Amino acid sequence: MKYLVCGAGGFIGGHLIRELMDDGHEVVCADIKPLEMWFQFFDKNKNFSLDLKEYDNCLKVTEGVDYIYNLACNMGGMGYIENNKAECMLSVLINTNLLRACLTNKVKKYLYSSSACVYNGQKQKKVFIEGLKEEDAYPAEPEDGYGWEKLFSERMCRHFYEDFGLDTRVVRYHNVYGPLGTFDGGREKAPAALCRKIATAKMENEKSIEVWGDGEQTRTFMYINDCVEGTKKIFNSDFKDPLNLGSDEQVSINQMIEIIEKIADFKIEKNYLLDKPKGVRGRSSDNSKITKELGWSPSIKLSKGLEETYKWIWSELNKKGENTNKFTASY
Ligand code: GDD
Repeated sequence: MKYLVCGAGGFIGGHLIRELMDDGHEVVCADIKPLEMWFQFFDKNKNFSLDLKEYDNCLKVTEGVDYIYNLACNMGGMGYIENNKAECMLSVLINTNLLRACLTNKVKKYLYSSSACVYNGQKQKKVFIEGLKEEDAYPAEPEDGYGWEKLFSERMCRHFYEDFGLDTRVVRYHNVYGPLGTFDGGREKAPAALCRKIATAKMENEKSIEVWGDGEQTRTFMYINDCVEGTKKIFNSDFKDPLNLGSDEQVSINQMIEIIEKIADFKIEKNYLLDKPKGVRGRSSDNSKITKELGWSPSIKLSKGLEETYKWIWSELNKKGENTNKFTASY
């Protein structure tokens, strides 16, 4: 079977392609970024650098393809999505035109990468909340901009199945982190940002780091290996409705900082910046449905995943004179 990975130059895309290749599949890769900016690049594959918002490009990359993982979208952590709502919403063109191209090119199965940002904001107003169940996306009050695009695109997948018989899967990612992801430049999420800040402080012997908000806000963070394994499992399952893919190990940002301090063996003072983007107050994944459907759920402990992530960021920061621009590239 021939797979297409859209968003191949990104964080999850790079890790997923490696796995698909290890499984022995032929993989076609597409991303808007120039090839030299891809986080992971594999010569062996057919690699396209083009804009999937354009229908003609979608037709081109889907030709002869059996299966599609669509991970392509314009995204980032809270610092990016709160300040670039229109850009985030334009990703609707990627999903729309890929779905249309799937029909023309008779693609057999299509996975859409949605997000925990689809969940109703009213259910995320407290810290350490009950996990969000899939049905908590309605009544709709998702994250402005980015979340509305994700919720709309989820529904388009559903209707392409109902009306045209295209076999679709929808996965709702909860804050994914790990090595070979963005850790600076404005799109980084909290785990990578805080690892970078603590590593830099240690290197430069600084006493404090900047933390957005009061540090009491809570999240669950999923390590990339769980993310790739779960994504493949959902793709290969028969379950067509949206499914959470996230950890259920809830921590506050302050607790995550404590874990990183231990890994770094470095204590730091926190300078809380209350006017920075904070997003929801508390978010967590309810994993009952994925456990029931797949007999599996993410299990890698945050302390273990952060150890790997911190080590990788530390080594990237230590690379002197080498070009690490690819990790700070704008979309
Ligand atoms: N990015 C970042 N950088 N966040 C920080 C920092 C920092 O230096 N310091 C504290 N935070 C806080 C943010 O204010 C926010 O309250 C929390 O850490 C988590 O921030 P992010 O990791 O940036 O985003 P998120 O969890 O709110 O949302 C992310 O995950 C969603 C899926 O669960 C985003 O990437 C969304 O795009 C994604 O859909």
